[in-house]
Amino acid sequence: MAIYQATASAPVNIACIKYWGKRDTKLILPTNSSLSVTLDQDHLRSTTTSRADPSFEKDRLWLNGSEEEIKDGGRLATCIREMKSLRREVEQKNPNEPKLSSFAVHICSRNNFPTAAGLASSASGFAALVSSLAALYKLPATPSQLSLISRQGSGSACRSLFGGFVAWKMGSASDGSDSLAVEVAPQSHWPDIHALICVVSDDKKGTSSTSGMQRTVETSPLLQHRIKHVVPERMNAISEAILAKDFDTFARITMQDSNQFHAVCLDTDPPIFYMNDVSRAIIALVTEYNRLSVENGGKLKAAYTYDAGPNAVIYAPKENLKEIISMVVKYFPQAEPFKDPFGLFGAQSVGAGSVV
Ligand code: DP6
Repeated sequence: MAIYQATASAPVNIACIKYWGKRDTKLILPTNSSLSVTLDQDHLRSTTTSRADPSFEKDRLWLNGSEEEIKDGGRLATCIREMKSLRREVEQKNPNEPKLSSFAVHICSRNNFPTAAGLASSASGFAALVSSLAALYKLPATPSQLSLISRQGSGSACRSLFGGFVAWKMGSASDGSDSLAVEVAPQSHWPDIHALICVVSDDKKGTSSTSGMQRTVETSPLLQHRIKHVVPERMNAISEAILAKDFDTFARITMQDSNQFHAVCLDTDPPIFYMNDVSRAIIALVTEYNRLSVENGGKLKAAYTYDAGPNAVIYAPKENLKEIISMVVKYFPQAEPFKDPFGLFGAQSVGAGSVV
């Protein structure tokens, strides 16, 4: 009896230009394009095994050992349905292929990073799910084509199909056929950029990205300004900065965009707060660090960015990392570099204190 099984993994990505807002909540079509850095393949990743078998009665999924319900019409069901439909096309073209599209699948997924790190796992999770089904079904699809499907699992997941620097083009088609991820540059283009994750709190976030961004779309006038007048220019400018390996511009835009994303959250009614006092203290520290460098005729040395939670991600060229880590440890005395540090582009991760 043949065994039909495949395993794939996908890393976490952290946005420099934030996705926040959907114009179509079912297809997950965003109100603006976004751009992220996918973290190192060796660290922070989801690994997923999918198996198809005629004896399976229904599709089932286990996440970190516990079974998750696959709700009819939900995001998981949509991704599995879309992947089976691509498999059907393969079977129609090659009648000798086994009819895997008619079998149920069992999917088992694990994250290699502690849930305590408070990092969103939906991006790596859905990207790994789609990649493992693509391998199982032997689909001739490109990462961009697969990103169309992982996008329907979680918007940010479309960007984890590529390594390095990745743009999610918002597209304009109402069926979502041009809302996909493209590579801006591979990691090897600019391996000097490192990401340092400062775990401020591992609490579950109060407002989920999905519901938070919907409330922002419905109530924030600032979001309308952002999507029309700010993001398009930033997307071009940061892409150029990446291609030119211009850290100064990359850092400036990354920090501005994180700030505007959190401003848009504050402009939401009722307001959404993701950062806390420790997050803001880290912003002050990075700002001061950069100010001293610029005052001495130098350039920006680090860039902070925050997603829908209080944890900081600091992007920096490798040569500044030691200095940044000792600075964080000095000003946040509770902070301890993890005993078994998971490097991100080779960097150490630091727990930057806990929230009071
Ligand atoms: C702040 O991708 O988690 O991290 O599409 O509803 O699943 P859904 O939202 P999600 O939102 C991510 C928001 C963000 C910014 C970003 O990653 O671009």
